[in-house]
Amino acid sequence: MCGIIGYVGSKPAVDILKDALTRLEYRGYDSAGIATIADDTLHLCKDKGKVAEVIKNCNIDNLPGYTGIGHVRWATHGGVTRDNAHPHCDAISQIAVVHNGIIENFEALKSRLVKKYHFKSDTDTEVIPHLIREQVDAGLSFEEAFFAAIRQLQGSYALIAVSTLADGKLFAARKDSPMVLGLGKDANFIGSDVLSFLPYSREAVYIEDGECVVMTKNTYQIYDLNHTPKKRESVAITWNLSEAGKDNQDHFMIKEIKEQPFVIRQAMMQDTRLLNRMAIDILRAHQVIFVACGTSRFAALIGRYVFSKIGHTFSDVVMASEFGYFSDSVDKNTMVIAISQSGETADVMDGVKQAKAKGATVYSIVNVEGSSLARMSDKALYLSCGPEIGVAATKSFTAQLCLLYLLAFAMDGRLSEGKEKLLEISSLIEKDLQTNLSEISLIAEKLKDKRDFYFLARGINFAMAGEGALKLKEVCYVHAEGMPAGELKHGTLALIEEGTPVIAICPTDYTYTDTISNISEAMVRGATVIGISNANQSIFAEWIKIPEVEMIFYPLVTVIPLQLLAYHSAIVRGFDPDKPRNLAKSVTVK
Ligand code: AGP
Repeated sequence: MCGIIGYVGSKPAVDILKDALTRLEYRGYDSAGIATIADDTLHLCKDKGKVAEVIKNCNIDNLPGYTGIGHVRWATHGGVTRDNAHPHCDAISQIAVVHNGIIENFEALKSRLVKKYHFKSDTDTEVIPHLIREQVDAGLSFEEAFFAAIRQLQGSYALIAVSTLADGKLFAARKDSPMVLGLGKDANFIGSDVLSFLPYSREAVYIEDGECVVMTKNTYQIYDLNHTPKKRESVAITWNLSEAGKDNQDHFMIKEIKEQPFVIRQAMMQDTRLLNRMAIDILRAHQVIFVACGTSRFAALIGRYVFSKIGHTFSDVVMASEFGYFSDSVDKNTMVIAISQSGETADVMDGVKQAKAKGATVYSIVNVEGSSLARMSDKALYLSCGPEIGVAATKSFTAQLCLLYLLAFAMDGRLSEGKEKLLEISSLIEKDLQTNLSEISLIAEKLKDKRDFYFLARGINFAMAGEGALKLKEVCYVHAEGMPAGELKHGTLALIEEGTPVIAICPTDYTYTDTISNISEAMVRGATVIGISNANQSIFAEWIKIPEVEMIFYPLVTVIPLQLLAYHSAIVRGFDPDKPRNLAKSVTVK
């Protein structure tokens, strides 16, 4: 959930690290900090607040040196304070560490170390520089001390250390948290993801669990925890810098919403042989289980419908954080399909590890190339939608749906037909985006003071109710519930009063008649109904028109107004939709 970056090169480290932190900020924005090494001295700046605030308030520009580390924080242990911000140092400020993850045995380690060294923070991370210090004090070289310290850690970590005792080298270690090395010209980088060093490197080396790295500006060496060297080839970085910018839009969220017609076309460019191979394996499996969290789980719920409706195959969806409780029913005949934008979500990774331990086949649908999930899966399909930086998932959801449709059509031997249909949908969405933009901002303005929202739908559209509510909660901090329209009368109807907004997702498909009747029940009790449909209805106070498409494709056209409603609602309420409070893009802790 935090972002880390390390740099060693021939340019001033602070310039590179500031830039990297700005690009890593989507991983956490509670606090930020940088440490550099110059003239046998460790220089440190850190504080709570967003990266730009910390840079402005902290005199960061004055940090000298050509080796350094940086961090953006999403708090786990210890509140949001300057002392808890990273980097953390040993008691005599010779060693600094940045860390993403959770050190599970930190209390036991701290109870021993606190007798020897002064702790300044409430974090789990601070044990790491003290552990290294303890080994140095026992007479080990810095390098030996680093490995001896890492071997004592339990839990998850991607961490980088610098020290005045380390000849300007960077030291890093990984277990269950993402970490990738970037190779540059007279410079090497190590960070949470390739975005952190994208402008400076086109070549990456993915670090595996249980590995450490020692880097200079021209060399790097990977080791296992016993300090035995390992070899790893580098791979080319396919993302480009323009994809990672805002492209003159006010926010990443709106830029990414607008990209969706292109995203559909891009997601369709899959290896046909791979798709067909995967489809056959899915059909042969005794049971098919989708595993995902958040928005990716809503995509999986739609996948379940299309696997049934198009691929004639029953599947189930298990929330990744709950998957372990069902693993008794998983065996070698089970196909697990893990869906994740980041490919680093700890709950998903945990589920996949359990499934693999039971002998299941694991296929993944993932955006980030080289991510832990992609590398751990038996086969992976990539969303190819470019980096998604807005914390609220938008274009990755649409790309996930595309791949699920393609797999379903492949399962029915109609892959080319599926592709043609998706192509038509992408053109319809392109036109629709133009008309919906201004209209939805007016509706958002009218709903500006509302605090409770109900999103209703049936059948395949039910997942869209959930996704619409999740988007609104994330970026507007209001209560929003998505539910099957038929469930309303079984309890939630009691909450409907004069003016309660009910967002009805009701295209004229097989769900239409029943959904309209449920919404009428809410309307007569005072609900203000905002209908998302291809046809207007007298019960709608507001109508958001969507194009008419084949029934199974409605999720692809209803998602756009739902995302736009959340985006504009955040804007009219004065919130930054790209950095919702308490959240971070990639949830790498359980
Ligand atoms: C979506 O808007 C959220 N930010 C969140 O629910 C997200 O979808 C979830 O954490 C899963 O992430 P993943 O797709 O990277 O695994």
